[in-house]
Amino acid sequence: GAPVTVNISKIEPGQQITVEWRGQPVWIIRRTDEMNENIEKLNDRVKDPNSEVPQQPEYIDGILRSLKPEFAVLVGLCTHLGCVPSYRPEVAPADLGDEWLGGLFCPCHGSRYDMAGRVYEAQPAPTNLVVPPYRFDDDSTLTIG
Ligand code: FES
Repeated sequence: GAPVTVNISKIEPGQQITVEWRGQPVWIIRRTDEMNENIEKLNDRVKDPNSEVPQQPEYIDGILRSLKPEFAVLVGLCTHLGCVPSYRPEVAPADLGDEWLGGLFCPCHGSRYDMAGRVYEAQPAPTNLVVPPYRFDDDSTLTIG
């Protein structure tokens, strides 16, 4: 499939958009500082905090799993059986409980991911979400693929 170029200048802090790449949904999330602080707090509650299972290009490292802290780029397919998770940025909503610090929730069998796409411990999903290959062409443009 061809690379997909996206204008990211209109994405508001805290907002998520979906683009299609190779027939898959790819999410771009503009993360706030608070979201990134909450990712740090979850290091001991996720299965693979440093993403040692290679679910991302080798130039993507660190717990935020991104080129820039502000933007997460993730394939929006659960690593369990491929459902599309829901974007749930709110902290401690009634249906997800006090422990929820914002992230991605799969409605099919309940897998929970943080805002870096890292799967929580004891979930059906085996691995973190996939980070596709991407680059920033400039401050307002990102290319996937
Ligand atoms: Fe997401 Fe099963 S497909 S938890």
